[in-house]
Amino acid sequence: MTPDPSQATRPVQTPEQVRAFFDAHRTVRQYVTAPDGAPIPLPEAHLDTILHAAQRAPTDATAQLYSFVRLVDPAVRAQVAALTNNAHVATASEAFVVCADVRRTRRVLEVAGHAPGHWPAIAVHFGIGDAVMAGTNLLTAAEMLGYQGCWIGGVLNGLEGILDLLRLPAGVLPFAALTIGTSAEDAPYRPRVPRPLVIHTDAYTDGTDDDIRAATEHMRPIAARPGKPGDWALLLKMYFGAGGGMEAREPHLVAALKRQGLWAGEGTPAGPSGQ
Ligand SMILES: Cc1cc2nc3c(=O)[nH]c(=O)nc-3n(C[C@H](O)[C@H](O)[C@H](O)COP(=O)(O)O)c2cc1C
Repeated sequence: MTPDPSQATRPVQTPEQVRAFFDAHRTVRQYVTAPDGAPIPLPEAHLDTILHAAQRAPTDATAQLYSFVRLVDPAVRAQVAALTNNAHVATASEAFVVCADVRRTRRVLEVAGHAPGHWPAIAVHFGIGDAVMAGTNLLTAAEMLGYQGCWIGGVLNGLEGILDLLRLPAGVLPFAALTIGTSAEDAPYRPRVPRPLVIHTDAYTDGTDDDIRAATEHMRPIAARPGKPGDWALLLKMYFGAGGGMEAREPHLVAALKRQGLWAGEGTPAGPSGQ
């Protein structure tokens, strides 16, 4: 008999079990493949379960402002791997491009005969939020099944090419790719910023310079990956400092927001979002 999902109960785990589960999380970039390097697909029941988990994510205003593009064709995988500079897009068991998507909501309104509003900033805010929540559910479900994965913000390295390749229409904006597979590497446990700098009580509080220095030292191992500088502040400088990678990405993201009808800044055309 098929279980009734409305009656489902959740087995309760102990705090230690929950901590152990999240402590076993690793971003993994090398996956078990076939001898020729081709991806080994997930068993159908596992794929179905991670997609189900993605869609069980909570969502703003009931809308589900996201879409995933599942990458199956090896040629498409190879192109996304090249456009993102992340080779494991080609070798993972599963690879997705996780997108904010306000187009479908607009279509629901139009099909029902209602005029869509104009809310491009809201679209980005809640669209990215919904996309991240669904993607996180998918990755967590995959980890529950024994897989590991990797988010790939590298989509911002080749945004225009990805819009073209995946034929993403107005109202749809890639957030990141997400790969899933069986780990073929011994990935380290990577630290996080000490809790008092991240979890504030009742009001935001800045840490002292010494707190920041201690956090920077604590985070050093995360910058120790081959090709990285071994110093967290230096790594952040490469990404977020003047002349760093994020400044290089910025104009491409702005161009993509404009192209997809999601730009809320100066020069915004009046009209429904996602047009
Ligand atoms: C939004 C997002 C984008 C990321 N982009 C990349 C990426 O493009 N390439 C990559 O190898 N790892 C990427 N990562 C993985 C991070 O480097 C990784 O999560 C971080 O170093 C912490 O390591 P851990 O997940 O093993 O704890 C990304 C993670 C997130 C959440």
